[in-house]
Amino acid sequence: MIGAAPSVWAIIPAAGIGARFGASTPKQYMELLGKSVLWHSVHRLLEHPWICGAVIATAADDPYFHSVRFNSEKPIFRCTGGASRAESVLSALQYLAGRHPEPEQWAAQWVAVHDAARPGLSAAQLDAVLQAATQDSVGALLVQPLRDTIKRSSDGGLQTLDRRELYAAQTPQVFRAEVLCAGLEICDRNLVTDEAQAIELLGLVPKLVEGGPNNLKITEPVDLAVAGFYLSAGS
Ligand code: CTP
Ligand code: MG
Repeated sequence: MIGAAPSVWAIIPAAGIGARFGASTPKQYMELLGKSVLWHSVHRLLEHPWICGAVIATAADDPYFHSVRFNSEKPIFRCTGGASRAESVLSALQYLAGRHPEPEQWAAQWVAVHDAARPGLSAAQLDAVLQAATQDSVGALLVQPLRDTIKRSSDGGLQTLDRRELYAAQTPQVFRAEVLCAGLEICDRNLVTDEAQAIELLGLVPKLVEGGPNNLKITEPVDLAVAGFYLSAGS
C-alpha cells in the first residue's frame, strides 16, 4: 500500500532588517521581477504538493507585509518574529503549535524553514530535501559544496582546511516540529545561524542534500541581480 504524502508546514523567517544589504527597505521586500523577494521565496515552497501552508515571521512593526499579495489557496499566516533568526523561527513554531488542528500530532509535524531572502530555490531542490528529510529519522537541509580553497586564520597561524568536508548551509532545513523546538530551546538563540546547528546541539545528525548557486541568500545588493538572473533563466 502506498502511504499518504507527508504534510509539511513552511516557516519563513522574515523579521530581519538587512543591515548588510544596506537599503532603507529590508531586502525581503525589494522588488525582483515584478514581485517582492518574499513573494518568490514563499511561492517556491507553496507550489510543492506536500507543503500545506506557511507561517511568516515578520518584525512587529513591519509596514510592508500587508501589501504583499500572495496568490495561493493554501493558508498563509503572519506572526511576530524576534531579535534573532532563531527567535523568529521559534516564534513561528509556537504560533503553529497554538493553532494546530490536531495537537496530539503536533510533535511529529514536519516543518521546512526557508529564508525569506532565498527566492531562487528550484522545485527539484525543494523536492529532494523534502524527500530526504521525511525518509530520515532526524531531517535534512540543503547545502552547497565549496569551490574555493578554504583557509583558517587564527592565533597568528594559517591553516588550509579540507574542502571536501565543508559545506555552506542553505535552506530549506526540514525537521519534525518537536525536535526543532527542543533544539531551539536549548541553544543560544543569539548565536546559532541556522536550524541544523540547534539540531546538532541535541547530538543529532541531519542528512545533507546538495543545493546550488541559484538558491543563494540575498545578502548584498549585487545578489538581487544574481537572483534575478537565475529566476529569469528558469532554474
Ligand atoms: N531573520 C529573522 N529575524 C531576525 C533576523 C533575521 O526572521 N531577527 C530572517 C531574515 O529576514 C532572513 C533570514 O532570517 O530571511 C536570514 O537572515 P539574514 O540573511 O541574516 O537577514 P538579515 O538579518 O535581515 O540581514 P543582516 O544580517 O544583513 O542584517
Ligand atoms: Mg542577519
